[in-house]
Amino acid sequence: MTHTHINDIVTERGVVRLRPMASRDLDRIIELEVTLFDASAWSYGAFAQELATHGRWYIVAEHDVKDVAGGDTVVGYAGLWFDGDVAQIMTIGVDPAAQGLHIGAALLDALIDRARHLGAHAVLLEVAVTNDRAIELYTRRGFHTITTRKRYYQPGNIDAYVMQRPLTDHTSHPGPVGREAITMEDPQ
Ligand SMILES: CC(C)(COP(=O)(O)OP(=O)(O)OC[C@H]1O[C@@H](n2cnc3c(N)ncnc32)[C@H](O)[C@@H]1OP(=O)(O)O)[C@@H](O)C(=O)NCCC(=O)NCCS
Repeated sequence: MTHTHINDIVTERGVVRLRPMASRDLDRIIELEVTLFDASAWSYGAFAQELATHGRWYIVAEHDVKDVAGGDTVVGYAGLWFDGDVAQIMTIGVDPAAQGLHIGAALLDALIDRARHLGAHAVLLEVAVTNDRAIELYTRRGFHTITTRKRYYQPGNIDAYVMQRPLTDHTSHPGPVGREAITMEDPQ
């Protein structure tokens, strides 16, 4: 079992802790997934498979106290796949009730840090060309578009940008999120 460091972030609604995703989180993750991605939502089985697959790293953002967000304590999640060369962001999502608090940025920063730690040369992701908010987040975190995949997302035939962030730099990412390292178990 190895260890990693994931941040606590201080939001205007309290402390949010990033920790590895566990099977017990999946009911809540699916609830968020359906809310955020509708017809494109991954199933419970798909997430369970991801958690069990080598080279994957999934995390959740959890409030330290119940009711801070008016409901469940898990308010965000994200996942990474490292194939030995580059890292691919598999998913990232934040409860609509908790968006705009820099939780998405903190999840993304954690994935980028993990990819760098694993020795990835770059981080890749796909994003719908219509998803302005996510594109803004990725651009501010150093991603740029390298190609477009036509009719990538169904339903709707929506094109996707493939965005890449090189990891040739060894400096910390920029960003507005306060960072406090904590030590915790790695789920893989
Ligand atoms: C994309 C998503 C994960 C961002 O999460 P979030 O916690 O709301 O984002 P943050 O609060 O960290 O904001 C990050 C950046 O997004 C941008 N942003 C935030 N709110 C925005 C808005 N209303 N409009 C445009 N850009 C916005 C800003 O650049 C912000 O950075 P800054 O405030 O530091 O300048 C979230 O909106 C989400 O879950 N969307 C639905 C699922 C999804 O589309 N996932 C991505 C699939 S590729």
